[in-house]
Amino acid sequence: MAGLSLKSVKKRFGETEVIRGVDLDVRDGEFVVFVGPSGCGKSTLLRMIAGLETTTSGSIEIGGRDVTGEDPAKRGIAMVFQTYALYPHMTVATNMGFPLEMAKRPKDEIDRKVRDAAKILHLEQYLERKPRELSGGQRQRVAIGRAIVRQPGVFLFDEPLSNLDAELRVQMRIEIAKLHQDLGTTMIYVTHDQVEAMTLADKIVVLRAGRIEQVGAPLELYENPDNAFVAGFIGSPRMNFVPATVKSAQGNVAVVTAPKVGLSEVAVTTRGTPPAPGSDVSIGIRPEHFVPAEGAAAVLSGKITIVERLGGVAYAHAQIEDGNTITVESRDAREFTAGATTRFGIDPKRAFLFDKDGRRA
Ligand SMILES: Nc1ncnc2c1ncn2[C@@H]1O[C@H](COP(=O)(O)OP(=O)(O)OP(=O)(O)O)[C@@H](O)[C@H]1O
Ligand SMILES: [Mg+2]
Repeated sequence: MAGLSLKSVKKRFGETEVIRGVDLDVRDGEFVVFVGPSGCGKSTLLRMIAGLETTTSGSIEIGGRDVTGEDPAKRGIAMVFQTYALYPHMTVATNMGFPLEMAKRPKDEIDRKVRDAAKILHLEQYLERKPRELSGGQRQRVAIGRAIVRQPGVFLFDEPLSNLDAELRVQMRIEIAKLHQDLGTTMIYVTHDQVEAMTLADKIVVLRAGRIEQVGAPLELYENPDNAFVAGFIGSPRMNFVPATVKSAQGNVAVVTAPKVGLSEVAVTTRGTPPAPGSDVSIGIRPEHFVPAEGAAAVLSGKITIVERLGGVAYAHAQIEDGNTITVESRDAREFTAGATTRFGIDPKRAFLFDKDGRRA
């Protein structure tokens, strides 16, 4: 097992810098998830840790050892990709044992490690099958098994579940959580899936255009985002942002107004000194944080264009007076009526304030 440390890591492909100075510490045994928009550099960073991409500058340490220029095979890592990359002509057992075969390990050791991994992954009855005789989830388990037999210090996963259907993803997500619990090995996991990130991670790293925007525990990022980008990225459906102006400020409370959307005054607590009166800001409200309009400190009104009823919850998409759309969640699936102009209550304690550059105020 091993921790990990990235120091001022950069990667250039030709003229383009795709990783633009990343510093990150991962504790031994930690489960770290990389999230960020497509093309922000998640896979590149993971491949640099694996040694599948060279590092342009900066250093990578695994288990306290500088591995920056080292061969992938010597780094003590194992990587699982979105495409399982199994050998079609080999059985499950041979596929899983292949890395040990390559390392010229004795046959009884290979057999034992393959059996152990198969047990952990519930693959015992499939050991003699070929990959084509397996479901997608079973194939991905074989790919994970092939990583397990090597007993790496760090597991690297690049969107391992994105080829699976919704139900299998849920199952495999739980399997991976259990695997981490059982093995206690450091894992770094790239995903687009909010639920995977929130549920699997000890620590989420939010990347944007080759830089880290924020690192923190899932709930830390959800409850206390540093900027509008992280606030919008963590949480689904995403946070609503309403343009507003600071009317007055005192201590760490800003009174903001948004006359264009009929919002008179909301007093929002800020992290530090609030932006000066007259500053343009935006108010961030998560869909799940609206409250009944009756008795609310402030109200936004909008015309509901679409209602999505998911059973346990419903989402109303409503056009507010400045033409923007907000999303509002309700646990009462029958609360919303499409076409109706509706008032949505705001709880100032659940509202976030961002300055004009998107920094948390
Ligand atoms: N071999 C390469 N040569 C040139 N540019 C590359 C190469 N590999 C990746 N890139 C560029 O680097 C950037 C980051 O790519 P990367 O694959 O790391 O993104 P990602 O965050 O994993 O995206 P996705 O979520 O779509 O998988 C992209 O702009 C991509 O086009
Ligand atoms: Mg990728």
